[in-house]
Amino acid sequence: QQLELQLEALEKGGYDHFMLKEIHEQPRSIRDCFRGRLNVAEGWVSLGGIKDYENKLIAAPRLIMVACGTSWHACTVGEYLIEDLARINVEVEYASEFRYRNPIITENDIVIAVSQSGETADTLAALELAKSKGATILGICNVVGSSISRITDAGSYTHAGPEIGVASTKAFTAQVTVLTLMALMLAHKKGTISESKYRTLLAELDAIPEKVQKVLDSSDKLIQDIASLYSKATNALYLGRGNCFPVALEGALKLKEISYIHAEGYPAAEMKHGPIALIDEEMPVFVIATQGPSYEKVVSNIQEVKARKGKVVAIVTEGDVHVKAMADQVIEIPKTDEHLVPLLATIPFQLLSYYIAIMRGCNVDQPRNLAKSVTVE
Ligand code: G6P
Repeated sequence: QQLELQLEALEKGGYDHFMLKEIHEQPRSIRDCFRGRLNVAEGWVSLGGIKDYENKLIAAPRLIMVACGTSWHACTVGEYLIEDLARINVEVEYASEFRYRNPIITENDIVIAVSQSGETADTLAALELAKSKGATILGICNVVGSSISRITDAGSYTHAGPEIGVASTKAFTAQVTVLTLMALMLAHKKGTISESKYRTLLAELDAIPEKVQKVLDSSDKLIQDIASLYSKATNALYLGRGNCFPVALEGALKLKEISYIHAEGYPAAEMKHGPIALIDEEMPVFVIATQGPSYEKVVSNIQEVKARKGKVVAIVTEGDVHVKAMADQVIEIPKTDEHLVPLLATIPFQLLSYYIAIMRGCNVDQPRNLAKSVTVE
């Protein structure tokens, strides 16, 4: 027993919990994910595992992504990226729904499963169904040699290393990284991106690990203070737009999973179609309000929340003054290209749910009723 405890402490590498360790590993896991796949000086991106499928991918009428949980959120970020940069139609499906609704799948379709464990029963079954209809099936998995990685025609590993905490953190950012590489690779090959934009994005992606480190170093104390303000909340709302909408979904999921606070993620503009009715002085609203095409729109959503006396915690771009003047608290993240914001904006939400869960005395690494890998339907 004593030996087991010592071993576990050793595995946690000085952190109190696996989740916190894995959050802090992200600068390294993101870099591990693009090592050998991204070369800024020479200006290329390559995903060796799916190289033979590049032409098929760019010619495909659509890509279908299937996943569950956090992996589904990563797919949704991927959808925004691939559609915007590579102009390929992407559909993101909950694996459990896809497999039972008699979906239309043809031999021209490419179905991509995204799964940390590579063992999720519904995702595996969705792939088997697609395969039986003649579709090409690809996988983006973290666990090497997992069932999904074995049945797929080809795939790309996320290389995030073992993830022990039940709530997924570093696997999510690695999945988003692979999908970003894929979007860049397809966009370049298809010619839907200018050479200069491509080069800029490569350099920006290469700088992400450092920027994640900066978020971890600069906001930890602030996030603990914010967590203590809201640790007794019973409800929370997460808002984002564009590629940060899935980040809002993921933020809400993290809070639900480990702190048992009811939380919902919404596209910011949808707030007025329902959730706005919930807003009062007790309700924290976490908003991604970074600089970008939807900044002004998000600012007006924040005003709507403030007009109803809601509490606003905003994630903003370093140096922002406008939102700072309106929000109750702000967390700054470094500036990056708008396509890469999800990789940074998700970090404060991970830390926030971690600290709130700790303050509520919850078991963050093994939350009640949840499993790391759901191998039954
Ligand atoms: C479970 C885990 C989640 C995970 C989901 C999908 O619900 O608790 O963290 O996102 O399964 O798992 P997968 O291994 O397919 O990514």
